[in-house]
Amino acid sequence: MLLAIVPILLVSLALSTATPIVYDGRARFNLTNADLESSTGPFLTVVKGSENATHYSSLLGHTMAPTPLWSEGLLPIQPTEQVISITIDNSSIFIPGGGSPQFGFRRTEFIAAVNGDHDDLNLVMEVNTTVFHFSIQKDEKRPLNYSHEYQVVFIEPNDGSHVFEIQLGSPFTDPSGPLPVADAHSLKVLDHALNTLFNAPFISDTWHNFAVVIDWSDKTLAVWYSRNADLLQLVKETTPNPTTPTGSDGQGDFHFGVLKLPLVNPEDSPANQSDVVHFGIQEGTIEGLLYSGCSWKVLFMV
Ligand SMILES: *[C@@H]1O[C@H](CO)[C@@H](O)[C@H](O)[C@H]1NC(C)=O
Ligand SMILES: *[C@@H]1O[C@H](CO)[C@@H](O)[C@H](O)[C@H]1NC(C)=O
Ligand SMILES: *[C@@H]1O[C@H](CO)[C@@H](O)[C@H](O)[C@H]1NC(C)=O
Ligand SMILES: *[C@@H]1O[C@H](CO)[C@@H](O)[C@H](O)[C@H]1NC(C)=O
Ligand SMILES: *[C@@H]1O[C@H](CO)[C@@H](O)[C@H](O)[C@H]1NC(C)=O
Ligand SMILES: *[C@@H]1O[C@H](CO)[C@@H](O)[C@H](O)[C@H]1NC(C)=O
Repeated sequence: MLLAIVPILLVSLALSTATPIVYDGRARFNLTNADLESSTGPFLTVVKGSENATHYSSLLGHTMAPTPLWSEGLLPIQPTEQVISITIDNSSIFIPGGGSPQFGFRRTEFIAAVNGDHDDLNLVMEVNTTVFHFSIQKDEKRPLNYSHEYQVVFIEPNDGSHVFEIQLGSPFTDPSGPLPVADAHSLKVLDHALNTLFNAPFISDTWHNFAVVIDWSDKTLAVWYSRNADLLQLVKETTPNPTTPTGSDGQGDFHFGVLKLPLVNPEDSPANQSDVVHFGIQEGTIEGLLYSGCSWKVLFMV
């Protein structure tokens, strides 16, 4: 029994503010939209469509409160960061370097970086055990379409798989089943093999706070969650994530934003129907999500 309790105590320590922060992606009030445009500061903003980065993303200044989890002071409590708005529209077709346009997807994602350098950050944030904090809220003015699958937070190694993923909506299937699926309106935390570790209804006007603990050596995940100012609670104890590639093959960029998958287009050939990256139905609507509280911490094992 004691063995089962010890890891939880360690994680509690990791979540305290005394723990070293290896990456701080909270958008401080001195971060500007011009910084987003040039990927100066904590985000690389290149995963997007043909328009400028600030066409798809913006910093909300003092117009909206970020997650209260990291606010400082008492009476009044002061926010330390700005909310980040990330949206997609019909122009959100990403063309990867040397690749063909991803007509199947609509996507805008921020990648954790330090002034454009993500590779060196990945080497620091993806060793030993690290804790990934982020908070998500609905953008009520730009609702998602829950008949589609959305991948909104993930760490992506070079093989395109995800060490973990936050998913919303109805998972893409070919052929399409009845839509939307029963839990489409829930935030789902998936492991590398796409098992659902935790599921929380994506209720409105609420910050949904997550902390995902990754042990990169032992290949495990644990999940903490809370709403608004509530303290994070352990919702999924340390669990194996064995299908993650080993060593540097399992390291990759941390993405957050809106990645919308298509629905199968019956008019496409069977081979093209299964090519979700390049084919399928998109309505071309303007949709978005709000983010705050992105920072990663080191978990020191004793
Ligand atoms: C922005 O503000 C943060 C503290 O909120 C400070 O640590 C940082 O140095 C400032 N950055 C610039 C470029 O002034
Ligand atoms: C897009 O960014 C470029 C370079 O920063 C700038 O010259 C241009 O005015 C921007 N366009 C719009 C529509 O904001
Ligand atoms: C969205 O963009 C695609 C690809 O450019 C285009 O074929 C389609 O007509 C557009 N849809 C809308 C609603 O504009
Ligand atoms: C990872 O853990 C090892 C052994 O405890 C330590 O020497 C190393 O500094 C840690 N790496 C980072 C980036 O914290
Ligand atoms: C959501 O997507 C479905 C499938 O393409 C479509 O029938 C429906 O009109 C869309 N809803 C909105 C609000 O765009
Ligand atoms: C599949 O898509 C490609 C590229 O658009 C097109 O050239 C090809 O004709 C399609 N295949 C079929 C069988 O429709």
